[in-house]
Amino acid sequence: MGLMNLSNQHLNIVVMAAGKGTRMKSDLPKVAHLLAGKALVAHVLDAVAALHANEPPIVVVGYRADDVKAALGARLARFALQAEQLGTGHAVQQALPQLNLDAPTLVLNGDVPLIQAATLEALLAAASHGALALLTAIVPDAHGYGRIVRDDRHTIRAIVEHKDATDAQRQIKEYYTGTMVVPPGKLGDWLSALRADNAQREYYLTDLVKLAVAQGVPVVATHPTQIWETEGVNDKQQLAQQERAYQLLTATRLMQAGTTLIDPARFDVRGTLECAADVTIDVGCIFESKVTLGAGVRVGAYCVLKDVSIDAGAQIHPYSHLDGASVGANARIGPYARLRPGTTLAADVHIGNFVEIKNAQIAQGSKANHLAYVGDATVGARVNIGAGTITCNYDGVNKHRTIIEDDVFIGSDTQLVAPVTVKRGATLGAGTTLTREAPAGALTVSRAKQMTIAGWKRPVKKTG
Ligand code: UD1
Ligand code: MG
Repeated sequence: MGLMNLSNQHLNIVVMAAGKGTRMKSDLPKVAHLLAGKALVAHVLDAVAALHANEPPIVVVGYRADDVKAALGARLARFALQAEQLGTGHAVQQALPQLNLDAPTLVLNGDVPLIQAATLEALLAAASHGALALLTAIVPDAHGYGRIVRDDRHTIRAIVEHKDATDAQRQIKEYYTGTMVVPPGKLGDWLSALRADNAQREYYLTDLVKLAVAQGVPVVATHPTQIWETEGVNDKQQLAQQERAYQLLTATRLMQAGTTLIDPARFDVRGTLECAADVTIDVGCIFESKVTLGAGVRVGAYCVLKDVSIDAGAQIHPYSHLDGASVGANARIGPYARLRPGTTLAADVHIGNFVEIKNAQIAQGSKANHLAYVGDATVGARVNIGAGTITCNYDGVNKHRTIIEDDVFIGSDTQLVAPVTVKRGATLGAGTTLTREAPAGALTVSRAKQMTIAGWKRPVKKTG
């Protein structure tokens, strides 16, 4: 049987996300905390989306339900409210009215963010003959987790929660990872048979195992391919550990595809990063939202790139911040450049240190190499923008555009008071405050005339 024909299946998916997560020491619900810029529970929903179930998953919410819903963004989900958190069994019970009880039910913890779709597919395959399937893992010390109790024939008999376990059971290295598949037709009866007669006075979902065993329903286990997939987040340290695990996975995939990362341990992707051949990324860079880097692109140390596309051969020098920008082939950006949303740079453009560009299109081969602000502007090809040039785009109420045509030369410390146009081939003398159109091919300069006062003497310090 192939894993491929699981698409569009009748499958219930329940994600438990009602708890506060006391150990996070935060008012924000645990599952709304961010890993790689995305809420923990959103990671779980993205993993189950790959299963192509017929109906959207049901997220059980309770503590600050609106924050959890908001953390899911536009993802498709249904919600069940667990007003009081009486345990994981009780949580699933709240979803019961929305479930198709003739289908299997996949239950996941909302605080296990790195679960991979392939691992879930293998678990579903193990459950496909009516078994109760548990995702379990074996670690040297399973402290805190529910332990898998097997008999001498290695058959699973029960899950015992850490707080209820005997000393002998606490030696067990196999633990329940928080993901199970309940076979069709069983969930309703089993959930109503749960009792809260345990150390935590909770309705444990894990007690379904005992009920299955009593009814002769087979209980099977599969394991995750990688141990980090099933590690839960219960405190800030585990959150940071899972963040690193995720980043290392992302880095490894990129390196396997040919990207050079100077140090995969100092590299963060909070969204998606696509790299063509021979891309090199130096240490300390952060890539947010959607970033694409063309062939041979080099990103220097400590750059932050968000919603950016960079064409082949361009170089981003250290400490540059790019947000909502597209950069043309062989362009040179930075060091210390800032590209803000709406920036479109054509090929061979150079943007140097302490230059800010916002909502501006700059055509091929133009340069602004030092200390400038270019906002709400259309800049032609082969334009040179001198140091200290500023587009005065804001009159305190409205924004206005500056048009700079091809082959213009703008001298240093020029202010372009928008709306204003500099015609093709014009030259603006240094220090010009331009308030009217500068004609094509001519030198325009506005500057107080220089004078020298003959016989002027410096003051001297009075004595006595
Ligand atoms: C649970 C399992 C344990 C397993 C571990 C794996 C039970 C009883 N125990 O323990 O066997 O080893 O996960 O990580 O299931 N939640 C609700 N409503 C509730 C209680 C919890 O929605 O009433 C949600 C939480 O928000 C969380 C998830 O269920 O997303 C797990 O809850 P948590 O309290 O972390 O369970 P563990 O003690 O970790
Ligand atoms: Mg937990």
